[in-house]
Amino acid sequence: MDISLVINFAYVVSAGLFIFGLKMLGSPATARRGNMISAAAMLVAVVFALLDQQIINFQWIIIGIAIGSLIGVVIARTVEMTSMPEMVALFNGFGGMASLLVGWSAIDPAAAGFTLTTIFLSILIGGLTFTGSLIAYAKLSEKMPGKPLVFKGQAIFNTLLILGIIASGVMFVQDPTNTTYLYTAIGLALLFGVMAVIPIGGADMPVVISLLNSYSGLAACAAGFAVGNNILIVAGSLVGASGIILTQIMCKAMNRSLINVLTSGFSAVKSSTMVIEGEVKPMSASDAYYVLEAASSVLIVPGYGMAVAQAQHVVKELQELMEENDTEVNYGIHPVAGRMPGHMNVLLAEADVSYDLLLEMDQVNQRMETYDVAIVIGANDVVNPAAREMEGSPIYGMPVINVDLAKTVFVMKRSMASGFAGIDNPLFFKENTRMIFGDAKESLGHMIREFGN
Ligand code: TAP
Repeated sequence: MDISLVINFAYVVSAGLFIFGLKMLGSPATARRGNMISAAAMLVAVVFALLDQQIINFQWIIIGIAIGSLIGVVIARTVEMTSMPEMVALFNGFGGMASLLVGWSAIDPAAAGFTLTTIFLSILIGGLTFTGSLIAYAKLSEKMPGKPLVFKGQAIFNTLLILGIIASGVMFVQDPTNTTYLYTAIGLALLFGVMAVIPIGGADMPVVISLLNSYSGLAACAAGFAVGNNILIVAGSLVGASGIILTQIMCKAMNRSLINVLTSGFSAVKSSTMVIEGEVKPMSASDAYYVLEAASSVLIVPGYGMAVAQAQHVVKELQELMEENDTEVNYGIHPVAGRMPGHMNVLLAEADVSYDLLLEMDQVNQRMETYDVAIVIGANDVVNPAAREMEGSPIYGMPVINVDLAKTVFVMKRSMASGFAGIDNPLFFKENTRMIFGDAKESLGHMIREFGN
């Protein structure tokens, strides 16, 4: 039998499994199985790609797999849960670098114009994804300031950069043997990744993360065309398309258009004219227990601080104690809470919190006035009423969970420090807010002990 027929049949099976896997990732109930199915699809794709007759040397492939697997296993096993978003950013970046290298290795002076164009695109998108993701990694891990970095003449510089990339692309396609054009294209692509991400920061970072994810898919898709591998084209398009859908969801969550995010240095262009009134009213966790004990409905709003404190298991414990006490408990999940898409869902799933209790922002906002208590656990930007009330605020217009409209609000955090976007939060000064200072896990532990007494 023709081997290429078998390989292509396996690719169709693999593509089908990818699509089923993706569909299953749409619901928390099926997400784990979806992940396994997608992983199986990838295994089929890799195994059958290795059967390709054009492979001339298995030795380097095996060495690559061994080194890559070792690094991957060590990193995945040792990474802190709080560093997952940074790791995902790095994954995107190395995916981009892989596409750049595949495109580079596929350069063939005899190739048709179309193939040379896809080779150029895999180098361009792969390169900018690599450096863009490294900057995103540095911003997320606070190795560089999360705020937008803007300088005079940035727009002109970027325009020249884009023109340079187009020119080098045209030259490369016309004369792929001339390494000057190739190296110029690689250099400009790497620089463009840096320039595209540094002016974006603060609360806009979720859009960058999902966009880079999409770019890594598009780069793989272009690499698939460059080397004529069908499954790479399909898998790359699926990642590219799902990344774009996620980007759209993130833009909607920030109430901003993609163009607006990409072209304006968010916080840098708006001046904050915030004047916050009111006083901070601290409360001990033990006193907060009495309020919770009398509450008939409670909303828990988790944020990045829950991940830092690793408080998801104690949150679940408190939820169960309140339910035993006949209190209705829901969780309000903001789409950009934490540092990666679905961050809160992953943590709460790890603690076996039932999916039906997780409500979306719009659902909880509709009935916020009916909650006796809203407990904010390490969230800050996603519950900041300045987004509604303060026109000068950098996050003005961004939909937030309106916890301040609940009867009482408990905010659990360690200090008065701001969140990722670096802006003050008038919620902490509201009449109905009580601040429970301290590590969220410890404060929740106190409350749980009070329930036990
Ligand atoms: P943030 O606004 O970043 O606030 C987290 C809060 O948690 C901090 O104010 C911190 O206050 C508190 N905290 C930290 N450690 C804690 C601990 N051990 N115990 C209790 N509290 C602790 O988080 P958020 O409300 O989830 O908002 C997310 C932000 O990140 C948004 O601005 C979003 O745009 C951005 N972002 C999101 C993503 C994605 S895709 N989700 C990606 C990148 C950036 P203290 O220091 O006072 O304790």
